[in-house]
Parts: sequence; structure tokens; C-alpha cells
Amino acid sequence: MHSFDVVIVGAGAAGLFCAGVAGQLGLKVLVLDHSEKVAEKIRISGGGRSNFTNMDVSAANFISENPRFAKSALSRYTPADFVALVKKHGIAFHEKHKGQLFCDRSAEDLIAMLLAECAAGGVERWQPCSVKNIRFSASSPHGNCASSYEIDSDRGTIHCAALVIATGGLSIPKIGATDFGYRVAKQFNLPLITPRPALVPLTFDETSWAPFAELSGLSLPVDIATGSKKSSMSFREDLLFTHRGLSGPGVLQISSYWAEGTPIRLNLAPTVDLAQHLSQAKSSSRKRVANELAGLVPSRLADTWVNQGPTWGHDWQRPVNEASDKALNALAERLSRWELTPTGTEGYRKAEVTAGGVDTKVLSSQTLESQQPGLFFIGEVTDVTGWLGGYNFQWAWASGFACAHGL
Ligand code: FDA
Repeated sequence: MHSFDVVIVGAGAAGLFCAGVAGQLGLKVLVLDHSEKVAEKIRISGGGRSNFTNMDVSAANFISENPRFAKSALSRYTPADFVALVKKHGIAFHEKHKGQLFCDRSAEDLIAMLLAECAAGGVERWQPCSVKNIRFSASSPHGNCASSYEIDSDRGTIHCAALVIATGGLSIPKIGATDFGYRVAKQFNLPLITPRPALVPLTFDETSWAPFAELSGLSLPVDIATGSKKSSMSFREDLLFTHRGLSGPGVLQISSYWAEGTPIRLNLAPTVDLAQHLSQAKSSSRKRVANELAGLVPSRLADTWVNQGPTWGHDWQRPVNEASDKALNALAERLSRWELTPTGTEGYRKAEVTAGGVDTKVLSSQTLESQQPGLFFIGEVTDVTGWLGGYNFQWAWASGFACAHGL
């Protein structure tokens, strides 16, 4: 039988990082993954350059049933700590937008860095390797620890004192995502917050979306919000029209807060007072309404909007100075307070992350150990979901670090 202090299942961001730290703390570590390649999500992240952290991280950038849970780990391993590691490995990077840090060259540099850190800690790595069964014994057969696990893998049975689950969420099954972590939680009677796709494009029914499908490819900055007045969430980010609905950073952000059956609200011209502008234009401009509007929003959007609704369509044929106040106000209102209810999302096939996961109420915020002794959950498998912008990787690093120090 193979024997290790720690077995980490999942050689993604959290698993590899945790393995390197634990190995360098002197533990005998095995990390295994069912995929041929490690860290596929790092490889494809940030368009191949990985948005590996965000300089401005707080627990407020994360969604969880317990919003305070992530605080401890995030404060013990900060973006500055990860940046120091990246610099130590000579990886060039740059800030793109709102504190988001990307590799200059390639996400492969980060993967090489994580593997070098694992090598420095003497970490053993098995892949492809699948786990068939996990057994827990309350007292170790070797008598040197209070509890232990036996793992049946397709490379033999492994014995370990601590088992770390770092198998991520359900997003992008074609590159290896599975529900393994949730099944392990269920095996040990640990509760789950129902997983759902997050950071995901929103879709609409074909008929109601037909007038907007022609805008596919159009991107513009918007204010986007969802939720009730009491608990509403909003972002100012770009929105992208697609054939089936809406995407772009603003929509991905709001999708993590969106509840099925509820509307989203959009201001398509967040930096101008459209009603005031059109009312002023009415006294001085002879341009067609659509042309006047095209100075404030993209002209494709202006055309689509004025073509909708009998009032606007009628007035649109005339210059703005001949349009009725009512029609101009209705047009401004519809553009700045567009409310629409998605019918769904593009699902795990397109979602960047999975919200929900192992309920944090059974995890230690200090070490990520669960109520099941010696069993830890780190990274995306937990009910901690970051915003778009490097937050999910920072959670992978921070939770991996906290866990490594708690093993
Ligand atoms: P991760 O998914 O990285 O790793 C899980 C590992 O477990 C995988 O290697 C998998 O093969 C393995 N595994 C799964 N089931 C298994 C089983 N049954 N047996 C053995 N192994 C198993 N975040 C961010 O902060 N900045 C960014 O730029 C991006 N960009 C981005 C783009 C795209 C397209 C996606 C899909 C996601 C992002 N993300 C992101 C999110 C980020 O990639 C994600 O949150 C982290 O990779 C999560 O790290 P984990 O280690 O928890 O899981």
C-alpha cells in the first residue's frame, strides 16, 4: 500500500498550490488528477493569459451563504503574497482593468510555476489517476495518527492521514469537471448548497429575443442590476448582445446574483441623461430621432430601439423636433430602464464557475477542514464564488494556503 501524509484529489489551481505549500512545510504529499494534463482551467483562463488575481480583494467580492467565511483565508494569503511568488519566478504580468492582473506571455507560465513549487516540496503527482472508493477509519492502522483514509485508486490503494478535495465545480465538463467533490461530501453527510452555473451568459426565449438577435456582436458599457430594492446588486461593465441573449463582463457578473424567474434591469446609456438630452435636442435639432440617439448610444442599438413600438416607430420617421414629448420620454425610459426576464443561462457548458458547493458551515474558516476529521475542501468545490476579475483564483490560492497550514 502507498502511504502519504496528505492526498490531494484535483491538480487544478487550488490543489497544486496547496500541494506545493504543504510539501515545502515538510509533509509527504500526493496530488492526483483524472485528467492527462494538470490545471486545464488555468491554461484557458483569461483568454490564455490568466487573470490570476485582483489587487483589490475583500470578502465582499465573493458570494456564499456565509459571506464572512472567506475573510480569514483571504487575509492570511493576499494578492500581494501571490504577486511576490509570481515575481520570484520571473513571470511578467500587467494590470488590465479594475485591479485585474494577467500574465504578459501565457498562463502556461503560472502552471510551470505551480509545478516548480510542487517539485520544491517533493510532491508526488499521479495522473491520469481516478479514485474509486474512499474509506475512513477513526484510528490509524499504523498507530501514528488519530484518523486515516484509505483510497482505492486505479494505481492501487493509498493510505493517508489527511484527504484534501480540490476537484472544483461543474463548469466546462469537456475539460474534466466532475461532481466528485459533492459526492465525497455526501458520502460523509456534509451538506451542500445546491450548485448552479455562475459567471454565465443569460438566455431568452427565441420569440421575444428575435428583435435583438440582429444586435449580436454589439458591445457597450451598461449599468446592470438584479434583485429586490432591499438586496439589489449592480455592476457597471460591458454588455455583449449574442444570438441567444446577453453576455459580456456585466452580464457574467450579474448572472451570479440572478435568481430564476426574476428580471434584470439595464441602463444602456449609463453616463448620459437621455430624457434631458432628447428634450433639449427637440428644441434645436432637426435630425431624425435615431440619428440624434446615435450620438449617445451605438447606432445599431439606436436603430433597433426606435424601430420598436408603434409610437416610436411613427415618430422616428420624423425629425426629433417633431416627435412628441411622450414618445421621446418613453424612448429614454426604455433605454435607461430596460427590464427583462431571462429564461435561463447557457449552463455549465459556458459558465466560468459553479456557485454553491460544500456548505461552509461544516468547514473551518481557518483550515478548511470539514466536520469529518482529516477531510478538507478547498477552491471552487466550496460554497465560495468570486466575481469575475481574478477573484476565483485568489480564493483557490488563499484556501489552498490556509489548508496547507492546517494539515
Ligand atoms: P479546478 O477546476 O481548477 O481544478 C479541479 C481539478 O480537479 C481539475 O484538474 C480536474 O481535472 C480535477 N478533477 C475533477 N474531477 C476529478 C475526479 N473525479 N478525480 C480526479 N480529479 C478530478 N478565474 C479567475 O480568477 N480568473 C480568470 O481569468 C478565470 N478565467 C476562467 C476562464 C474559464 C473559461 C473558466 C471555465 C474559468 C475561469 N476562472 C477564472 C475560474 C477558475 O478557473 C476556477 O475558479 C479555478 O480554476 C478553481 O480552482 P480549483 O482548483 O478549485 O478547480
